[in-house]
Amino acid sequence: MLKEPHVGAPRSRVDGRAKVTGEAKYAAEFPAPGLAHGHVVSGAIARGRITGIDTTAACAVPGVLEVFTHENRPRTAWFDYKHRDEVAPPGSPFRPLYDETILYSGQPVALVVAEDSGTARHAASLVRVEYEAGAHETDLLRAREDAYVPPKRRSGISPPPKPRGDAVAALAEAPLRVEAEYRIATEHHNPMEMHATTVVWEGGGKLTVHDKIQGVLNSQGYICNVFGLSKEDVRVVSPFVGGAFGSGLRPQYQLFLAVMAALALKRSVRVVLTRDQMFTFSHRPETINQVALGAAADGMLRAIRHDAIGATSRFEDHQEVVVNWSGLLYHCDNVELGYKLAQLDIHTPADMRAPGAPLGVFALESAMDELADKAGIDPLELRLKNYAETDENEGKPYTSKELRAAYRLGAERFGWSRRSAAPRSMREGRELVGWGLASGVWEAQMQQTSARAVLTADGRLEVATATADIGTGTYTILAQIAADAFGLPMESVTVRIGDSSLPKSPIEGGSWTAASAGSAVQAACHAVRETLFRHARGAEGSPLGNADLDHVAFVDGRIVLAADPDRGIGLIEAMRAGGAERIEHEQTASPDKANQKRYSSYTHSAIFAEVRVDEELGVLRVTCIVTAVAAGKILNPKTARSQVIGGVVWGMGMALEEETLADHRLGRFMNHNLAEYHVPVNADVHDIDVIFVEEQDSRTSPIGVKGLGEIGIVGTAAAIANAIHHATGKRIRDLPITLDKLLERPPAERAR
Ligand code: MOS
Repeated sequence: MLKEPHVGAPRSRVDGRAKVTGEAKYAAEFPAPGLAHGHVVSGAIARGRITGIDTTAACAVPGVLEVFTHENRPRTAWFDYKHRDEVAPPGSPFRPLYDETILYSGQPVALVVAEDSGTARHAASLVRVEYEAGAHETDLLRAREDAYVPPKRRSGISPPPKPRGDAVAALAEAPLRVEAEYRIATEHHNPMEMHATTVVWEGGGKLTVHDKIQGVLNSQGYICNVFGLSKEDVRVVSPFVGGAFGSGLRPQYQLFLAVMAALALKRSVRVVLTRDQMFTFSHRPETINQVALGAAADGMLRAIRHDAIGATSRFEDHQEVVVNWSGLLYHCDNVELGYKLAQLDIHTPADMRAPGAPLGVFALESAMDELADKAGIDPLELRLKNYAETDENEGKPYTSKELRAAYRLGAERFGWSRRSAAPRSMREGRELVGWGLASGVWEAQMQQTSARAVLTADGRLEVATATADIGTGTYTILAQIAADAFGLPMESVTVRIGDSSLPKSPIEGGSWTAASAGSAVQAACHAVRETLFRHARGAEGSPLGNADLDHVAFVDGRIVLAADPDRGIGLIEAMRAGGAERIEHEQTASPDKANQKRYSSYTHSAIFAEVRVDEELGVLRVTCIVTAVAAGKILNPKTARSQVIGGVVWGMGMALEEETLADHRLGRFMNHNLAEYHVPVNADVHDIDVIFVEEQDSRTSPIGVKGLGEIGIVGTAAAIANAIHHATGKRIRDLPITLDKLLERPPAERAR
């Protein structure tokens, strides 16, 4: 049998036109008759309690319908667990307007609902809140003293593996040692679309809810549990999501507030958060890493220790996989990894694009660069020397791992062999030039997902599943998979997603949607094909009379004999012959349990970065990134490339710009806007070259896909930091690497 190509057809987004024309509707854009508008009042202290709320002035504004606070809110579920959503970490979820307790700065303390949004916003500014402040702590550097190992409760997050060998002894004996601390600042998600919910009051106790969410079923379940409603009465419809990156995995407080107000007022209500309020929930936790590497003189790793502390809230144990990567990226017999949390008076952090991985991998891959320096070995050679053939954390083989090829192809494209080893040895004009590299790794997962396919006698195909498209290209790849199954043009396919009435799908996250929803859509299409094929074979004078499904091909709207493609029958003709107006099948695709048990599955990348630094001004540019990604089958290289580029740009943000700064005296994030919270803009982004390495993987998912939404960010910050060291000789272990850190002179030099 011929090997299938590892890259599919480069298709443009099927939803592109709807998006650029404004036809695509987002949560805050759905109309409803008699729509009322809510504006959130955000709290001002980090910890304590509300001693009084005066809403008189706000209520007196013409057009104001109601001001909800903890004092007058309608009753909701009493028990804590009812407020837990599908992906809640262990702990007690935040319950908006629950009581007078203040848990973090920016906490919603009131919702003003008015006839129009301007009135609501104005009236919200008139709500007077009095507090009794308690002592708070928002500084991880102080709270780290009280860090604790999260109790073993079901969190869905793999804890660090058990130690192997004796890392402490091996480290003590190692001829070469690197020991250092690496830190990454708090980051906020900042998708283009602000979080918003429009609740449409349908009458008869029924609600249609348009929510900014990465999984409509998660919002539906949450609403039903919290407000005691039945699933028949609550439909969540969110066909488009304007970016989310993890901030939309869990229902956020605007959903609660909008539903609460709609039920109380018995009318439609919309609540949209402002850009500042996007900094009042959901962020990547500030994380401290301590890494120690021990190696022989030739660079062979003898010991790896990696301990991390991540920030969490006082009420939930948000956990991430930060250190485990250090036990699997390289072969090493003595490994000890640890992960702790430290509580702060902040909102619970959230998963943010590749949660945990870019943090831990930044630390490990920076330390590997430091080791290469000490050993006098090329950083690429050091990685190849210590290449891990198997997952040594789990003692399992990989479903596939083409990282070696990624290193080779990336290095060739980048021109790595022309690098001169010594720091500060490459210069062009007034700029120092630096070349650095790092490895990237992310889990390749598949989740059980159901999908429906319907073929109608007009030659149209509809596929449907409840999953979301958060801008990743889900609509497009599902249309492609469905079209390919029948040899139909993509224009003949309609994809329906983002609706809780559709077949069941998990949240869109973890880079698993293409593998999961894609496999489900393909399974549903194959079931329709079987029925169709029976009709085709039964048609009078059918040339397929003696064939079975393995011997035919679906090409250009026809079913033909694979061996003799001139002989066949049209899809519509076959349906007519069978008297079928429509053929409909629902199928569920599940990961292969036996494979999951036997193998580990990860995507990998090799990232090469070039930076140019003007030392006098501290100005730094990332002039080139080459990333070679091994992620199994690439369904659509166009949308896939966009995903990886997006991840790389995020990595640039992590390396150089993004940090949410708190004033610890106030316990408050201060740069809560896009003027002061910097993300890379077009002027920051130069050449990004994405290579898709050929990787055949038949075990992760039925369609050979391993997922791409997150791998692009992992390792990118490390490659840039390593390039900065190569350019300047400065090792900066504290992200982001801002101008002040670049300009800071070493103490010895300052003394001169
Ligand atoms: Mo992702 S951080 O699972 O949206």
